[in-house]
Formats: sequence, C-alpha cells, structure tokens
Amino acid sequence: MSGDDGPNAPDGRSAWTRDHATALRREETNVAPIIYPPSERLDEGLHVWDTWWLRDRDGSPAEVNGCRVIVALTSSSDLLPGKRHDVATLRYFYSADGESWETGGRVFETGMLGSRQWAGSALHDDGDVYVYYTAAGEADEADLSYSQRIALAEGGTISPGDDGDGVELDGPWEHSVLLEPDGEWYEREAQSRGMTYTFRDPWFFEDEDGETYLLFEANTPVPEGSDACGGDAAQQEFNGSVGLAHSPTGDPTDFELRPPLLDAVCVNQELERPHLVVRDGTYYLFVSSHHHTFAPGVEGYDALYGFVADGLRGDYEPLNGHGMVLTNPANAPFQAYSWLAYDHGDELLVTSFFNYFDYDRPSMDDVALLPEDEQMRRFGGTLAPTVRVGVDGTRTRVLGTLGHGHLPLARESLPSDPFEGAADD
Ligand code: FRU
Repeated sequence: MSGDDGPNAPDGRSAWTRDHATALRREETNVAPIIYPPSERLDEGLHVWDTWWLRDRDGSPAEVNGCRVIVALTSSSDLLPGKRHDVATLRYFYSADGESWETGGRVFETGMLGSRQWAGSALHDDGDVYVYYTAAGEADEADLSYSQRIALAEGGTISPGDDGDGVELDGPWEHSVLLEPDGEWYEREAQSRGMTYTFRDPWFFEDEDGETYLLFEANTPVPEGSDACGGDAAQQEFNGSVGLAHSPTGDPTDFELRPPLLDAVCVNQELERPHLVVRDGTYYLFVSSHHHTFAPGVEGYDALYGFVADGLRGDYEPLNGHGMVLTNPANAPFQAYSWLAYDHGDELLVTSFFNYFDYDRPSMDDVALLPEDEQMRRFGGTLAPTVRVGVDGTRTRVLGTLGHGHLPLARESLPSDPFEGAADD
C-alpha cells in the first residue's frame, strides 16, 4: 500500500501474482453459509442474476419516492439456466423496505446495442439516469457472437409510479458505444489466445476529489513469444485485468481509456464486475472470478476477491494475503456468484445471486449434462442472502448473513442475529 512508491509497473498497474494466488484457501473467515432456496424468488417468471444498485454520484444507493432501485440481468424462467446469457435483458426492481421487491419492468424496450445486454452500473444524477452496460454480440446477428463493447444509455428519468407508489424508469434512451479495446492496454477480440476476451461490466466511480471514472473488466494483451510467465504459453492465456477510463470534464458520457488498475497475467482470465469501496482514504477494489478461469497450477474458487491500496492508483495488495474475501462452501461450490460489496457502517454488505445449488457436485460442467428438469431445479435464479463482512485493514472476515435480497441502506441498522439469513426464509 505504498502509493506512488510501490512496486507497480511503470504505467501504474498493480499485479495479482501467482505467488499470491497459489496461497488461496477456503478458511473459516471466507466461507459463506450454505444457501437454501427462499420461499419466494424475486420474480417467479424470471431468472435473475448479476444485479446492481441505482446509485448517486457519490456511490451511495439512490432513493426515489422512498424506494431503492436495483437493475439486474434477467431472462424468462422457462429457459434452461445455461441459455440465459444469450438473451440477457436488463430489468429494474424497486423496494420501500429493502426486503420485498416489485418488478418494474424492462429498462429498455428498443434501441439497445448488441444482441444482448450484460452487466454494468446505473447512475442517478440530478434526476437524470445513465445506464452503463455491456453490449454483447452484434444487433440482429444470425449466430451468436461474443464481441463486447461498453455502452451507455442516457436520457432516462425516474419518477413516482402512476398511482403515487413505487417508481417508474422511463426513456427515451439514447444508446451509444462509449469504449472499445485499444489493443495496447486492452486486448481486442482478434488478439485473444485462449478463452474469449472480455471488455465489459462498466462501473461508474466518482473519486473523493471529484474525478470521474469507469472501471471495467478486460484483458492485458500478451503476444505469442512473450517472456511473461517465464515464457509458459499455457499460463499466458490467462490475462485478466481491471480496466480504467477517466472523464476529463466529469461529464458522465465522455470517457478516455487509461492503463489498467491491476492485472492478473499468468493467474486468471476473468476479473469480473470490478468495483470500489473507499473508507477513510483506503481503496478496496473487488472483483468476482470463477474456479475455471484460473491458470494451470493455481487452485482458485468461485469467489469475491479483493485488493487494497491507499489511493485509486496505489499499489493494490491482495486482501488476506491471497485475495479471497468470500467464497461458497466446499459442498455447494457454485451456490452464489457475481458479488457486489457496499459500505454499511463498520461492515461491508455483499450481495450476489443464487446460482447452482448443486450440493456435493464437484464440477459445474456436470450440471449441463443433467436432464433439463434437474438443471432447472438446481438453479436459484434470484438474489442470494446478503453476506456481512468485517474489514480490518488488509484482513476480512465473514460475520453473518441477511435474508435473500435483503439490501439495507446505510442508515438502517442491521439485525443483531448475525445469521438471520442462513436458513430458509
Ligand atoms: C458475471 C458475468 C458478467 C457478464 C454477465 C453475463 O456473472 O460473466 O461479467 O456481464 O455475467 O451474463
């Protein structure tokens, strides 16, 4: 955490190294309790996965007409869970108490870019709404492609619902491509050597000095014949990064690429949904990643990983020595994914979605081989219990859970029973 004097690369990026990652372990401090299906899903007609708050410029959850609002990737719950990414559609939900949620509807009806929309963030600024999202694939493509661009929909407004209750998110939206990979700091699709490249999951972030940024998931180009990873070509295919773009004027529609904050070359291919929590000048950078995206020789987990520095461009060091903050129990290793941490007093609260609860099943690949009704039965498709995490400098500890999709605002006190949400609620 030594800021500008740290051992960062010349362009300021920090590294998550194999030395760090080979120390990854499930420990009492980083394993969430087992999740049981809730009595009601967020919406019985929908699969719901990656989810984020509508937030004000300073990062705190927005309140509109007494409601907090979330945006999520959704699909019809009639679909096989594995097919949902191919048709992902943004929908919003709102709640007056942070526990029971109403479905607001689709965020966009028309005009969205790509053949489907993947994760992003949503900014509420002076009554205007900006939705940053990943435009995946090409509009009207015959065969699904995996190209990715960072897109913006602007022009939205949010107001009380017609009957005075709840909220309504309305267009007309104007969609544009904000960022594409430059091929130098950020890998383009044609440069990708292993799994598909990534360029997605934009996260709006306003720093304490008022400077405005987007964080996003990307990859660092590693050309063939490079001496990275001691020249090991198989390891070089794993090149995830946390990208950064800056808005010189603070205009939330105008960003320029900057070098990545951190990368994980030789370690991991996907540093998903990067986001920051800043407490007293300490920057906590979080990403989600999968067991199957770690490089050969590193045993990782579907988990929330975190890094800490003393400035946005500081020298990020992995929390807990290796980086793992929160993972699933060994007998339900894929029960939750796509974690998002936010500040709540002395604690962090971490939301995620309830994924495959394939108890005692060692590999997620097995799930796709099951009969269709078994695949459906094993998919949560709703918000997971919120996890309470304590933070002390560079160390974190799981403290307990709240109910499925219970998302308190900062001013709301937390239940004294730390494991309120551990059992079926
Ligand atoms: C994480 C993720 C995101 C992406 C979305 C697609 O769960 O892979 O990176 O935007 O899912 O469904």
